[in-house]
Amino acid sequence: MKKIDILQAPFVKEMIATTSNLYRLGWDERNGGNISYLLNEEEVSLFLDVSKVIRQIPMIFDASQLAGKYFIVTGSGKYFKNIVDAPAENLGIVRVTQDGTKLELLWGLENNAVPTSELPSHFMSHIARLAVDPENRVIMHNHASHLLAMTFTHELDEKAFTRTLWQMCTECLVVFPEGISIIPWLVPGTNEIGKATSEKMKETRLVMWPQHGVYGAGKDMDEVFGLVETAEKAAQIYTYVQAQGGIKQTITDENLWKLAEGFGVKPRQGYLD
Ligand code: 13P
Ligand code: ZN
Repeated sequence: MKKIDILQAPFVKEMIATTSNLYRLGWDERNGGNISYLLNEEEVSLFLDVSKVIRQIPMIFDASQLAGKYFIVTGSGKYFKNIVDAPAENLGIVRVTQDGTKLELLWGLENNAVPTSELPSHFMSHIARLAVDPENRVIMHNHASHLLAMTFTHELDEKAFTRTLWQMCTECLVVFPEGISIIPWLVPGTNEIGKATSEKMKETRLVMWPQHGVYGAGKDMDEVFGLVETAEKAAQIYTYVQAQGGIKQTITDENLWKLAEGFGVKPRQGYLD
């Protein structure tokens, strides 16, 4: 069967639109940030002959739990601002080998490019999220400015950090009732940061990397983008509130409970009085 041009694939278009938006928001300076998006074989097969492997790419960790799975990923060292004009140089479609130690490149990552250096955190997070939500498909990392700034000024206690974000915009509790997790500062690109991130991903779809950025997970691009965007907006409001002289009044726990009831969400246990 004749294949459709890969640039017409909805998942390629979504990657281009999302990375362009992220760049314009200023959260992905230079090569900052990365996205991995789980695809199924049927949707990839409409555009690519999946038996044609361009090359193999070794990995530094065991991804055998994702054996045979397909992902579209951003390339390491690639600038989000350039993706729209050169998708095949900056994005790649890969499949995890059966032994979980390599990737098979099926499209993109031209000129010997490799997937994001944050692949351990992405793949370990996919494994963790899929275990609790079989529909999870996207992991996104970026350097959302106000959230990142808050990791310098706000105490790095998960409950306190979550409560502050929930109080900054009424919608926050509805969008991330499970809260936001925080890992210690760790060297990016390592298995260690991957393990720490994915451990938190079992409970929350948002994970802060202090003095670095944020990780988000979701069923689709809109969910993960909306999640990060909402937390980042709350962090922006927090920044303004602090600049305007600090909090004089906020949303009470009583009202947060009413909100949870009204929208049918369950706030993280123990986070509200
Ligand atoms: P990559 O260019 O390898 O994706 O790394 C960017 C980044 O944000 C590292 O944390
Ligand atoms: Zn980063």
